[in-house]
Amino acid sequence: MELTLSVIKADVGGYVGHSSSHPDVIQKAKEKLEHAQGKGLLIDHHVTVCGDDLQLIMTHQHGEDSEQIHKLAWDTFVECTNVAKSLKLHGAGQDLLADAFAGNVKGMGPGTAEMQFSERQAETIVIFMADKTASGAWNLPLYKIFADPFNTIGLVIASNMHSGFTFEVHDVKEHKKISFNAPEEIYDMLVFLGAPGRYAVKAVYHKESGEIAAVSSTQRLSLMAGRYIGKDDPVCIIRSQGKFPAVGEILEPFASPHIVEGWMRGSHHGPLMPVAVRESNPCRFDGPPRVVAAGFQLANGKLVGPRDLFDDPAFDEARHQANIMADFLRRMGPFEPHRLPLEEMEYTTMPEVAKKLAPRFQDI
Ligand code: F6R
Ligand code: MG
Ligand code: MG
Repeated sequence: MELTLSVIKADVGGYVGHSSSHPDVIQKAKEKLEHAQGKGLLIDHHVTVCGDDLQLIMTHQHGEDSEQIHKLAWDTFVECTNVAKSLKLHGAGQDLLADAFAGNVKGMGPGTAEMQFSERQAETIVIFMADKTASGAWNLPLYKIFADPFNTIGLVIASNMHSGFTFEVHDVKEHKKISFNAPEEIYDMLVFLGAPGRYAVKAVYHKESGEIAAVSSTQRLSLMAGRYIGKDDPVCIIRSQGKFPAVGEILEPFASPHIVEGWMRGSHHGPLMPVAVRESNPCRFDGPPRVVAAGFQLANGKLVGPRDLFDDPAFDEARHQANIMADFLRRMGPFEPHRLPLEEMEYTTMPEVAKKLAPRFQDI
């Protein structure tokens, strides 16, 4: 069965501050998608959250970039914004950059990851959703999952994965894309993936069959808006098992937290902490950044699940390590590399302060 899995997300208001989502907002989204499913637009849906980001997970047969599906998501975010406004939640409607829907939510604020594929006998899916971080946050884990044999033993000992994967990498500033084959071109590829603020893995394909394996949201909110609104808080869909990495190979990179940009005021480096959905409420210095993982089996497009995959004591040590990393970085206060370099910061008083002090600067 050919179907499309769409994950469309937006921050339509935080509760309390930017730390979490209000149950009434989630309820409104559920009602909207339930209604759309009743009318036959969706095969199935699941509404969830990561921190202050509302996540619409939808299966349907309208393909990627479907105007109907994007309009449904947009209208849902608008109605949820109205609920957020009535509760005077913080930053109500913050990610809706346009006044009216114009055919596709891309470029209008919400983040999207969509993939069309033919459902296998058993179709295992993992959806990652993050809060308080930027879209390049998936580069390191996607590299490990699909190209690092120390993470994914299937690359070595499973014959259906042994020929490797193809990475589609986007230059999010210049709007260009390039594909790399792994393992042959990993050294070339890492030159780019190591700079996640500029180059982001958009998709990964099984090299032999050309089948889609992973897709991520690469929208950069600040580039869309031309100013700071909030962090991208990206999502990523990965197909699992069989010719794709096993669930455990997909989750394994998060057992050793990596450092991402985001956290307080979108202007810091911090560890990405893997947590259960109920623990995705970034409060300490508005963080540290969080990632949740929802696992599903698909049955003729029905979303069987989710299993809250990081709700596992095996990730306790990663959370502990992330807290130690957070302590360590916090000691640096306003100094780099905890604080982002000037040109990467989402908030900065530098132009104002520099202007005020300009007369006091003397040539050396
Ligand atoms: C980071 C984030 C928060 C806010 C901070 C200030 O992505 O959302 O750290 O930047 O709480 O928020 P405002 O400017 O809305 O008062
Ligand atoms: Mg927010
Ligand atoms: Mg957020």
